[in-house]
Amino acid sequence: MALQTINPTETEAWVKLREHFENIQYQSTKELFQTDSNRAEKFTIEWQDFFVDFSKNNWTEETIALLINLANEVDLKGAITKYFSGEKINVTENRAVLHTALRAKNTTVVVDGETIAPLIESTKQKIKNFTNQIISGERKGFTGKTFTDVVNIGIGGSDLGPAMVVEALQFYSNHLNIHFISNIDGDHVQEVLKKVNPETTLFIVASKTFTTQETLTNAETVRKWFLQSANEKDIAKHFAAVSTNISKVTEFGIAEENIFPMWDWVGGRFSLWSAVGLSIALSVGYDHFEQLLHGANEMDEHFKNTPFEKNIPVVLALLSIWHNNFFGAETEALIPYTQYLQKLAPYLQQGIMESNGKSVGRNGFPVNYQTGTIVWGEPGTNAQHAFFQLIHQGTKLIPTDFIGFIKPLYGEQDHHNKLMANFFAQTEALLMGKTKEQVIAEFAAQGKLEHEVSDLIPFKVFEGNKPTNTLLIDQLTPASLGKLIALYEHKIFVQGVIWNIFSYDQWGVELGKQLANSILEEIKLNKVNFHDSSTMNLLKKFLKN
Ligand code: F6P
Repeated sequence: MALQTINPTETEAWVKLREHFENIQYQSTKELFQTDSNRAEKFTIEWQDFFVDFSKNNWTEETIALLINLANEVDLKGAITKYFSGEKINVTENRAVLHTALRAKNTTVVVDGETIAPLIESTKQKIKNFTNQIISGERKGFTGKTFTDVVNIGIGGSDLGPAMVVEALQFYSNHLNIHFISNIDGDHVQEVLKKVNPETTLFIVASKTFTTQETLTNAETVRKWFLQSANEKDIAKHFAAVSTNISKVTEFGIAEENIFPMWDWVGGRFSLWSAVGLSIALSVGYDHFEQLLHGANEMDEHFKNTPFEKNIPVVLALLSIWHNNFFGAETEALIPYTQYLQKLAPYLQQGIMESNGKSVGRNGFPVNYQTGTIVWGEPGTNAQHAFFQLIHQGTKLIPTDFIGFIKPLYGEQDHHNKLMANFFAQTEALLMGKTKEQVIAEFAAQGKLEHEVSDLIPFKVFEGNKPTNTLLIDQLTPASLGKLIALYEHKIFVQGVIWNIFSYDQWGVELGKQLANSILEEIKLNKVNFHDSSTMNLLKKFLKN
C-alpha cells in the first residue's frame, strides 16, 4: 500500500503551527535560555555515542508537540512501517525502498514474492571474498603483480557515497589507493589514469542501470587505455561491475564472477550499503564495512522504535520543516569539524535535493508550500574563514548543523582542542551574538570612547539568535559514520512523508539527459537544429571551432 496522501497545510496541526509561529517568530532564543535553566537538557537527545543538542533554535516544547501532532496527522508511524516492510512507497517507479534491509540483521522482507535476505547475504559474502583476495594479494593482475590501486567508475549514487565514505574512513584504510572517476570530462579520466599502472589496478564499473552516459563513456575510455598494455582476456582479472543490469555488464565484457548484483529496491543515492560500497570494503577491509552497516542498522532501530520526541531523525526533520515552512529558510548548512567529512555535504546534496526537490504532491497536483531544502557546507574551521560571515551577519536565515567528535583519531590533542574550541565557540556566537553595549565595552577596554568609534559600532554588532544543531559524537569510526548517514537518510524520509511528495524517484534529472543526447547528435553532425535563440547561438559558437 502506498503512503497516504495528505496535504500537510490542511491538517489541524499546521493551522495551529501557523498561529503558534505568529506568536513566537520574533522571540529571542537567547532569552529562552535565560528564562529556562534546563533548556539545554530538555532539548538534547543522548543516544549511544551521539549527543544531539537542538536547544539553540527558536522553538519551544509547544512547537515540538505541535510538530509531532503534524507527524501523527500525516501518519508518519504508518509510513515508517511501510518503508521498512518493503511496501512500494516509490509509486512512480513501482518500487520498494529497502536500503535499510541491506544492513538489517536477518531481514524477513519479501519483494515481489521473493525473500531478499539470501540475495543480500550471498552478495555480502561475495564482497567479502573478493575484498579479502584483493587486499591479501591472493588475487593478482595480468602480469602476476598484486593490486595497488582501485578505480571506481560511476556517477551520482554510484560515486558520491563510496567517495565520501572512503575519504571519511581513511584512518582505517589499508595499502590500496582508491580513485574515483565520475565526470564525463575526459580530462578527469586522464588525470586519474596518469596516476595508475594497468598491471596493478582494479577497475570497478558501478552503475545501477548500466545505461548512464557518463559511466559507460568513462568505462570505455578506461578499457581502451587498459588494452594498450593488455589483452582482451585480461579484462576478466582487472574489471568488476556493480549493477542491476547483468546482461549489459556481460555485453561490456566483464566476467560473470566479477559482477556484483544490486536490485531495483535500492535507490542509487542510498546504495553505498550495497555492492556499490565495494570500493569502501576494499579500502578499509570487509570487517570495517560490516561495522559501517551495523552502525546504520542501529540508527534504523532507533528510528523505528523510539517515540518521536526522543527520535533523532524525526526531531531534526521536524525542526527543518519548522525552519523551511514557517521561517522561510531556504537553505541549511552542514559543517563537520573534521577534514575527513569534507565530502559529506556534496554526498548529502544528492540524498536531500534529489529526494525532496519535488513540487508535485503525492496526489499528482502541484504543492502550495515549500518542499526540499538546499543543503551545502564545508568542514570547519575552513568554512569559518570562507562563508561564515554571511551566516553571522548576513540577511538570510541559515539553520546549521555542527558535527564534531570528542576524540581525534591520531591523538593530536592540541590540534583537537583548538578545533573543538572553534566548534563550540561558533554555535555560542551564533546564538548569543554581540550587543551594542558589549561592543562599546570592548572599545572602552582598549581606551576608546564611544563618540570616537560610533561610526564603527553598527558593523561590530552581532544580532545572534541564529539557529544551530550540535551533533557531538564520541569518535569517527565506521559504526558512528554509519549511524550519521542513516540519520540523514531518515530525516529525508520524514520530510518527504510530511511534504506529501515522492522522495524516491528523480524524474527531474531526465529532461537534461534527453536534450544532451539530441544536442550530441547535432555536434557530431556539425548541424544546429532549432532551439531557443540563446542555445542556438551558443552551439554555433562552439561548433565554429
Ligand atoms: O541522474 C541521476 C541518477 O539517476 C542518480 O539517481 C543515480 O545515482 C545516478 O544517476 C547514476 O545512475 P547509475 O548508477 O544507474 O549509473
